Amino acid sequence: MLDKPDVTNGELLASAVAGLSAVPKTLEAKWFYDAEGSRLFEEITRLPEYYPTRAERAILEAETATLAATIPDGGALVELGSGASAKTRILLDAAPQLGAYVPVDISAEFLEETARALASDYPHVPVLPVVADFTSAVTLPRALVKMPKVAFFPGSTIGNLYAAAAVALLAGVRAWPGVEAFILGADLVKSPDVMISAYDDAAGVTAAFNLNLLARLDREIGANFDSAAFRHEARWNAAESRIEMHLVSLRDQTVEIGQTEIRFAKGESVHTENSRKYTAESITNMARSAG
Ligand code: SAH
Ligand code: AVI
Repeated sequence: MLDKPDVTNGELLASAVAGLSAVPKTLEAKWFYDAEGSRLFEEITRLPEYYPTRAERAILEAETATLAATIPDGGALVELGSGASAKTRILLDAAPQLGAYVPVDISAEFLEETARALASDYPHVPVLPVVADFTSAVTLPRALVKMPKVAFFPGSTIGNLYAAAAVALLAGVRAWPGVEAFILGADLVKSPDVMISAYDDAAGVTAAFNLNLLARLDREIGANFDSAAFRHEARWNAAESRIEMHLVSLRDQTVEIGQTEIRFAKGESVHTENSRKYTAESITNMARSAG
């Protein structure tokens, strides 16, 4: 059974109104992941331009034995931002000693479906899904208290966090009782052309993923965005070493969210996501800062 979702429409409303009232306008990237956003992200992972998933899968396949060996007998594998847990199956297949798999994700419906499929494919492993925002303290299931734990944070999802939040997350996991290892996947800087195409694919799936955020605000908090009045843009910010996603207003317009009116000038953007690209040095520094 899933724990109760800790994300409510009230939080979404407060976060959206605060972000869209700020200068420059922003929306938090964690809100991409309703059921439709999670489905679109899975489509992104299969795009020819989106190299991170293929690259990480290749690493996991090449290093399976080493990584599986970090999981002690009867230990729990706790994955932060588990999504479809697709690459995780490589580890699940190679770790018969596993005592539990704990996928943690903010996308409740998608997590529930994923956990059901995993429980059926891995009947010998207890699958204990947790709906939570990993930027706050995550309450792990009671069954895990005495188990040794390995944290798994793949996909370069850490790059979607601001530096201070990333360090806080790493430090928080380090404080879990019985945590023995942390397996982190982080994307490295490469040519801007390659990175930009990965976040602005020819088929327009990333654009649909970005624009779904506005459709979600319409569906869940009664906003009246016209998604067709915005366009997706991916930018390389070299100074911050990150790909940024923006939604750019195609005209002067006013959008209502409840009682709040938000004005957009033609060409004004809403900054919706950062995807930090690392070097070996910047990853080491981040890990050091987290202790
Ligand atoms: N680990 C998978 C999925 C990565 S997509 C992979 O490597 O392919 C990022 C996942 O993190 C999504 O499933 C999303 O719902 C989840 N996520 C994003 N922000 C989150 C947050 N603040 N708390 C919990 N989950 C979050
Ligand atoms: C989940 N996260 C690591 C993805 C990324 O690459 O930053 C989200 C994404 N945004 C656009 N495409 C994929």
